[in-house]
This record gives sequence, C-alpha cells and structure tokens, in this order.
Amino acid sequence: MPNTFVVENKIKKFNKTISVNGDKSISIRWILFSSLASGVSTATNLLVSDDVLATINSIRKLGIKIVLKKKYCKVFGKGIDGYNYKENLTINAKNSGTLARLLLGLFANTKKKIKLIGDKSLSQRDFKRVIDPLKKFGVIFDSNKKNTLPLKIIGSKILRPINYFENRGSAQCKSCVIFAGMRTKGRTFIKAKKSRNHTEILCKFLRLPIKVKTKKNFDFIEVNEVKKIKPLNYKIPSDISSAAFFIVLAALSKDSKIIIRKVNINPSRDGVIRILKKMGIKIHLKNKRIYKGEKIADIFVKGSKYIKSINCPTQLNSNAIDEFLLIFLVAAKAKGVSNFRNISELNQKESKRLDWGAKILNKMGVKTTQTQDSIKIFGNPNLEVKKKIVIKDYLKDHRVFMTSVIAALSFGGKWYIHDKNSINTSFPSFLEILNKLN
Ligand code: S3P
Repeated sequence: MPNTFVVENKIKKFNKTISVNGDKSISIRWILFSSLASGVSTATNLLVSDDVLATINSIRKLGIKIVLKKKYCKVFGKGIDGYNYKENLTINAKNSGTLARLLLGLFANTKKKIKLIGDKSLSQRDFKRVIDPLKKFGVIFDSNKKNTLPLKIIGSKILRPINYFENRGSAQCKSCVIFAGMRTKGRTFIKAKKSRNHTEILCKFLRLPIKVKTKKNFDFIEVNEVKKIKPLNYKIPSDISSAAFFIVLAALSKDSKIIIRKVNINPSRDGVIRILKKMGIKIHLKNKRIYKGEKIADIFVKGSKYIKSINCPTQLNSNAIDEFLLIFLVAAKAKGVSNFRNISELNQKESKRLDWGAKILNKMGVKTTQTQDSIKIFGNPNLEVKKKIVIKDYLKDHRVFMTSVIAALSFGGKWYIHDKNSINTSFPSFLEILNKLN
C-alpha cells in the first residue's frame, strides 16, 4: 500500500545533533493573535504542517492577508475587529482540535453565522467542553445532540463575563475561554487545572489585560476585554512534542547519543523529560535561556542500559499529555510494572490514544492491564520483537504513526504501519530526520 511505511530493521547506534520543527501550539497561537493585531506581524521557524496550514487558510477566509515563504510568515492584521466575512462562512479545521476550539473562543462575538467543520477524526471529538462555557457567555450554537462537528456558531446579542472552572487540564478549553473573555466587556475569571500556558505567556508579552496567579496545581486567570493588540515579531522555538520521538529513540538505543537544539522546554510541556529522568534515562539540558517568556534549551540524551519502572505522578499528566504513547514504550523496556493513572484524556485525542497505546504494546508481546483512565505496563528489559506487526485502522493520528515507527526501530520485528501521510499534521520532516541518523 502506497501510504504504508515498512520498518524491517532496528536502528543502529547513532550519535547526532538535530533540530526539529517549530512548536505547533505556539505557531497556531501566534497566527491567531497576529490576525487580531493592528499591523503586520512576522514569524520565523513557523511550523509548516497541515494543522498550521489549516490555521492560515481559516484566517485568510476571515479576510486577513497572510504571506508564507517556507518557514517565514507575515500576517497583515487589521485590528481586533478586522475580520471581514460573509454570513454562513465555512471554516475547515481539518485534524486540529486546537485550531477548532480556539477559533470558537475568538468567534464568541461574531455577528454572522460561521459553520465549523473538520476531518473524520476531529468530527468524532467532544465539543461540549467548549460549547458549555461559551453558552454561559451568551453564545448561541446550532449543534447536534452529541455536540460534535459540524456545528454552527451563531454569535450572541450580549456577551457576559463568566466564572469558569477548567478541571481536565485542557489548554484548548482554557484558551478558548481566554479568547472569549478577551472579546467580552467585564471580568472573566478562570480557575484552571495547570496545562500548557502559551496563550497566557503571549498575552503577557503583548501586555494584554490578563492576570495569572498560580496556587499549587491550579492557575487563577482574570481576563478583561482587549481593545487593541500590537503586532508581534516572533522566532518560534522547536517543538518538544516532536523532539520527544528522538529523545525516546535515543533513550531506548544502547550507546546512542543525540542533541536536539533550541527546544521549547516550557515547564508546562516538559513532563516527558521529567518522567523519563525518574525512569533513569540520562537527559541533560544545556544552554538554557528565555525567549519572550518561553524557556528554550538544547536537550542531550544518552541511551540507557537500565530503565526503572514508574508510578507516574498524576500532576505530570497534562505536562506530558501528547507524549504518553512514547513514554509507554519506555515503560515496556523498564524493569518492573509501571502505573499511569487519571489519563482518560488520552482517549479524547485524534484517536483513542490510551487504547492505541495498549494495542501497540500488546502487539509487541507486552502485557498491560487497562481501565477507563489508567494503564499498568509490565516491562521487560530484554524485550525483543521478532514477529510481523501491522498498525492500521486508527483514526488519522500522527502520533500513533510516529510512535509505531519508534517502537519498530527500537524493538525490532517487521512492521507495516499505515497512514504515513499523517506526519504532515505536526512533523513533516520526521522521516527525513530519521534517515539522517544512520
Ligand atoms: C494543545 C492542547 C492539548 C494537546 C494538543 C495541543 C494546545 O490538548 O493535546 O495537542 O495547543 O492547546 P487538550 O487541551 O485537549 O489537552
């Protein structure tokens, strides 16, 4: 099959320095903020992937000019009320939950109906989680009973500020409410379980009237109406979620070494590093610096002989939310049983990732026990895969594809992994970088 990727051999020992693409969460957010700015914003190292292209196309449909030349992007913002579009405009968020949910927040004060659609995977995901708080603001929707896409956002006569408790640790829900709050007169209060905070950092950098206080595992955010956004020139740092594939590949490959340069290690995103260090993986961060409120570092990883099992602290769950499939592979090679709890959110992703994590491991001969929100992985330090494995019939999910490739290269066997094109969602150069390792 043309879109199937075959891996037949384990990777040989490697020692390389690489760079991965720009951060997906920041690329999408930078475009959204710039589209509301008064003037021209520019970015370098923008991630050019399907999710980000869907963002650019959506914003262009709202009447905003965007020029993209390789990874350099220019957004010609026309001010906070500068969108210009016809009644019943259709916006296609394709595979991107982040784009779809953040846009709904931005559209809270729309005067014209907008229809939001997505691909098969996005159309099965839950939108009640953002529709509910937006309805509290006074936004009217035309949606089906399941609250899935396609849906229509009709707007509102009067938006009122809300008090909102975000208890899933979802940055998409939190950011959606921040955007809606930015478009609403009065004070919106959010109590949010900690999750990635790129939206808040950008708000702070742009000096928008948004205050954040942190207490233990919660952020308390006050959002006021935003009247003007300055243009923002930005150098997008590299994506830790892309780097994670190579962190894990190096960790699982004895005597290999890798350096990944200029990666965003924002503490709300560095769970994969913290969890793997607890498991005994040798990871060092060098050349640490701060860029526009985001932490950046070069990541050094060495292959490990001994991997410890982990009882994973649940407060790290949202910091590593996109990396669990990879962490499960490390647990498969650990000595002892690893336990991951409160992770039902994984089944809310592009595909049911908790189920897929277990399926991949079981196909490799690794024993797991699973509940709706937890998984136990029975590790085997001598794990070798010798059989044929086929990974197919999952909803379009880039992370299932790439994790399977890392599993094949780390543990052996003959793997047929479907949907190679899914890498274009977040990490188009994934296979190219892999090819350069040996
Ligand atoms: C994202 C938030 C996370 C993450 C997704 C990107 C973001 O989703 O899984 O890949 O950019 O805000 P949730 O908010 O649903 O946890």
